[in-house]
Amino acid sequence: MSDFDFDQIQKTVEAELERITSFQQLQVFQHKYLGRKGVIPSLTRQLSKLEPVQRRQLGQRINALKQRLINYIAEKEPLFKTQASSQSFSLSELSLPGIAQELGHLHPITRVIEEICGVFMRMGFSVVEGPEIETEYNNFTGLNIPLEHPARDVFDTFYLEPRAWIRDRKELKERLLLRSHTSPVQIRVMRARKPPLAVVVPGRVYRPDAVDASHSFMFHQIEGFMVDEDIRFSDLKGVLEVFLKAIFGQEISMRFRPHFFPFTEPSAEVDIGCIICKGEGCSVCSRKGWLEILGAGMIHPNVFKNVGYDPNKYTGFAFGLGVERIAMLKYSINDIRLFFENDLRFLKQF
Ligand code: PHE
Repeated sequence: MSDFDFDQIQKTVEAELERITSFQQLQVFQHKYLGRKGVIPSLTRQLSKLEPVQRRQLGQRINALKQRLINYIAEKEPLFKTQASSQSFSLSELSLPGIAQELGHLHPITRVIEEICGVFMRMGFSVVEGPEIETEYNNFTGLNIPLEHPARDVFDTFYLEPRAWIRDRKELKERLLLRSHTSPVQIRVMRARKPPLAVVVPGRVYRPDAVDASHSFMFHQIEGFMVDEDIRFSDLKGVLEVFLKAIFGQEISMRFRPHFFPFTEPSAEVDIGCIICKGEGCSVCSRKGWLEILGAGMIHPNVFKNVGYDPNKYTGFAFGLGVERIAMLKYSINDIRLFFENDLRFLKQF
């Protein structure tokens, strides 16, 4: 073998390299030149037949070529490989339609809460939330519902069995419970802030009611209250009128019926004209023509005293409404359990 032969081999190698365009061709090339019986190893074997000087020269050139091929393959192999896998993927799957991602949406109760809070926010109210596990004080005593008061039985309540480590802590002597209404957040907010206040409080409440089409042991309320130096019953009426018209339409009629709540005085239950029969009388309104929609009143002076406000300086109103009830009326839903069963056939309608 001479230098001339090697020049020829090198030319052929370069030409072949140029033509490699796939992983398979690269493998064939590698086998042909670097394989055990390949061109490079057989050239190396022939070196022993040469004169020492020529052997060294040619040996160096062969090694250089070998290194070049090794580097080339190391560089190109990963590129050709990804090309190969994407090619086989694209050929079989490129024309398949994609897998559609099903888009979820907000739960109808969440939507109604957002809609109601939105109306009040536009009137300048801020939204505050409170914990679902409450103290007996915030849920009852602070709201002017003393232990012996009959109203305390009215709210049948889930009391929590205190764990030993809580029982032993003196500052947590009080019983804890699942709040039976959102009114305890009145106490929390009034203790933490000073008037003027305009706040709405959405959240879950719990009562051990037997479950049926209109009762659930867990449901949602929105509390609202406003406190300042000159808040009057007429402010309550005005705010509720704006709210009810925004939710049920400008045509809706509204009436206040005297009622009793320990934490408001005077108190009222607020009805709207039946949105199903427009006041004619139907099964939804039990032929009364009116639907009870929320409880409200002027915050009791004792509640102000309990939070450290001067009842001679401040007045305020409060109201509380059931979100499920409003959602059921708005969307003509006749069973509260539908909201909590997670049946997609129901939920997808919203
Ligand atoms: N907390 C009362 C309830 O759950 C509703 C209410 C709130 C009434 C605020 C008056 C004022 O029934």
